[in-house]
Amino acid sequence: MRVLFLGDIVGRTGREAILTNIENIRKRLSIDFIIVNAENATSGAGLSSNHALQLLKTGVDCITLGDHAFDQQEMISFSEKEPRVVRPLNYAKSAPGFGSRLFKLPNNKKILVMQVLGQVFMKRPFSDPFEALELELEKYIMNGNVSAIFVDIHAEATSEKNALAQHFDGKVSAVVGTHTHVPTSDTRILPKGTAYQTDAGMCGDYQSVIGMDKVEPINRFRTGMSKERFKPASGEASLSGLIVDLRLDGLAQKVVPFRYKGLLDQHGMN
Ligand SMILES: [Fe+2]
Ligand SMILES: [Fe+2]
Repeated sequence: MRVLFLGDIVGRTGREAILTNIENIRKRLSIDFIIVNAENATSGAGLSSNHALQLLKTGVDCITLGDHAFDQQEMISFSEKEPRVVRPLNYAKSAPGFGSRLFKLPNNKKILVMQVLGQVFMKRPFSDPFEALELELEKYIMNGNVSAIFVDIHAEATSEKNALAQHFDGKVSAVVGTHTHVPTSDTRILPKGTAYQTDAGMCGDYQSVIGMDKVEPINRFRTGMSKERFKPASGEASLSGLIVDLRLDGLAQKVVPFRYKGLLDQHGMN
């Protein structure tokens, strides 16, 4: 079984790159399941229900969110109704929606997708992501009641993502980092069989400051004052993430980075 995981979609250019290419990518690379982080897909901040539905209709199987999960207010009610949208498991206890979802594929395989937020350098203190995952994993056994488990660790600190992946090595199929918007080059299988990459990168315009038009971020770093709102950069987007091939026991057989179109296009679709 082959799973494609793509990092944070940023703005219109990222959304359009997904909508235009995803069907072709699925066919040409024989992808069975597609997970996309879309926490910045609507104007760079959150995800509207309309954009979520467009992504799901075009071929995305599961959408994960992040610290920007509810920046678009309508996601508060939409996430209750749409089981294909996964928000962080360790968000506020009162948060709507689902932090963990089981997907049944046409081939009868079952994939569990979970997302957690890190605690280091994040805007507000979220609860312990290790504990949240451990509690949830008590209900599932890979190669038992589920075929594969994907964890999106949405965090700022590389060390925290490393620690979480090492801790859950052998218990889940893949741990993939999101949130920093820049792909790391440490794609690998950990000793006990879990695929890992510290950050999947973003689906957006890389001629930018992590997906945003560069003028205002530079201004804020230099002056500490804001002149205007951040707006997503609008040049051609790259799609960035990774492809995981799974063994029958749910662990990883192979993992390769995926970078397609725009400035990051290195390998095409090989
Ligand atoms: Fe993001
Ligand atoms: Fe984020």
